[in-house]
Amino acid sequence: MDIKDLDTPIPAIDLDRVEANIKKIQSYCDKYNINLRPHIKTHKLPSMAYKQLKAGANGITCQKISEAAVMAAAGIKDILLTYNIIGKTKIEPLANLAKQTNLSIAIDNKVALDTISQAAKLAKKEIKILVEFESGNKRLGVQTTQAALSLAQEIIKLDYLTFDGLMTYPCGEQAGKFIKEAKELFSQANIEINTVSVGGTPTMYSVHKVAGVTELRVGTYIYNDVNTIGSGAAKLNQCALHVHTTVISRPSKNRAVIDAGSKTLSSDLTNPEYGQGYGLILEYPEAVIYKLNEEHGIIDLSACNKKPKIGEVIRIVPNHVCVVSNLHDELVTHRNGIVEAVLAVWARGKTR
Ligand SMILES: Cc1ncc(COP(=O)(O)O)c(C=O)c1O
Repeated sequence: MDIKDLDTPIPAIDLDRVEANIKKIQSYCDKYNINLRPHIKTHKLPSMAYKQLKAGANGITCQKISEAAVMAAAGIKDILLTYNIIGKTKIEPLANLAKQTNLSIAIDNKVALDTISQAAKLAKKEIKILVEFESGNKRLGVQTTQAALSLAQEIIKLDYLTFDGLMTYPCGEQAGKFIKEAKELFSQANIEINTVSVGGTPTMYSVHKVAGVTELRVGTYIYNDVNTIGSGAAKLNQCALHVHTTVISRPSKNRAVIDAGSKTLSSDLTNPEYGQGYGLILEYPEAVIYKLNEEHGIIDLSACNKKPKIGEVIRIVPNHVCVVSNLHDELVTHRNGIVEAVLAVWARGKTR
């Protein structure tokens, strides 16, 4: 089947582009001897995770237990959870996950450590722990190398838990300084740092300049999006996911309406320097999707010389592709416009 004949709206993924994107970052990591641990938040598909592993990735990264459970059920044996897992409701699901796969978890506090310790005891299975530090993003992470050391000292006291190293997201400006100081402090305390894991597609090709980094976690690079293009980390012809939509109305000269609203494209805007509206229309790059209702996208055509007709299928590069994956039950893959498969997005909607 030709992708031009697909029912819309639907995300369509170009597998040749996916494979080229995977190969490019894997070659970079191989060149600099950095382990690659892709974040599956972008695709949420076991089949894509297997492509990444087959190309040389050392394991995968997930954000939530339920997301990781999908990947573990698909047979993936090395998973890092980059999330503080907290509370008694998490102990049993985490123990079940630990029994199925080799698990590492990044934390920044003792409450998360307590939950994970109880889960590891219940599973009778080793869990490796990384300490998350803040390197400029102002999201979470310990603030000082001394706080990282104190947490590591707590970790090594506990049965079934091993201290594995440090983690940050993204690889912020202060990462290098923090890693250097931590290495000195930890070595005085006789604690080994095996792994230093950093993440983020925008800075992925410069992490080799940060001394001490051993692992890169990237997600968006597999599909890319308007944000990635804006950051300079990819070009338009490296965007692998296009949302196919149909023009359902042309109420006036400069307005078109498509069958893709916030349920399809998400409400994420991009940095104003990267673009306007809710995604880039490949066939009409001057057009602006300026408003979304749940099932309608409203487009301003005033800057376009050529304008779309009712019934025409147009393709959109999303601003933020990970949230688009999360919105869809299924998507299609293709090569050169010929459909290869319809895939259920198994790990979508997994918030716990
Ligand atoms: C902890 C963590 N690591 C890695 C990533 C991957 O970032 P990117 O999609 O920019 O590659 C994310 C993205 O949100 C993240 O939260």
